[in-house]
Amino acid sequence: MVKVAASLLSANPAQLGEEIKALERAGSDWIHWDIMDGHFVPNLSFGAQVVKGIRPLTTLPFDTHLMLSHPMKYIDSFAEAGSNLITIHIEAKGDIADMLYRIRQKGCRAGLSLKPKTNINKIIPFLPMIDLVLVMAVEPGFGGQAFQKQALKKIADLRDLIGHKPVQISVDGGVNNITAPACRLAGADILVAGSYITQSPDYKKAIERLKK
Ligand code: DX5
Ligand code: ZN
Repeated sequence: MVKVAASLLSANPAQLGEEIKALERAGSDWIHWDIMDGHFVPNLSFGAQVVKGIRPLTTLPFDTHLMLSHPMKYIDSFAEAGSNLITIHIEAKGDIADMLYRIRQKGCRAGLSLKPKTNINKIIPFLPMIDLVLVMAVEPGFGGQAFQKQALKKIADLRDLIGHKPVQISVDGGVNNITAPACRLAGADILVAGSYITQSPDYKKAIERLKK
């Protein structure tokens, strides 16, 4: 069964705590934190302090997506804030292997994300160092964008590339009741969804539709 990681980017910032509890009650498996520096992507979002403040409110795993130009500087603070999985972008600056090592050294699972235009072959050298690949189906930076179909081929090709290695595939951006079945069919293990869930009147029904 595919897992759903609800992204908070489009949640109501005035009620972030209540939103998290509602998402947990609605059956979200993970909470997806989109962390943006206004440099790697043209947007700013949450700092480690916010993640730390919310941590006690839920036992759901925190899936922290670092859309940062220099993620090495922030791995420790997001790990100490309570992340369970930290994902960096392969397009970020710094030594990717060192950063992935640091993430695991801090006790978190390590993820590597690819922007839509980045070829999946780039991750081959890092496969032994990661627990998850995050396939972006939109240009990172904003919620509510349209799903880019070429992500489906990337997921299927990744599935072949990964074979039986213990690496999960997550897809992020524009995931909704229409695009979710194709993502599952292509081989995605986790669906990250923001606006489709948090803009819907019934979070539980929205999450069920993504999973069925
Ligand atoms: C975009 C983020 C995504 C985004 C998903 O940069 O990485 O997680 O919040 O939002 P939706 O599901 O609304 O496209
Ligand atoms: Zn994300």
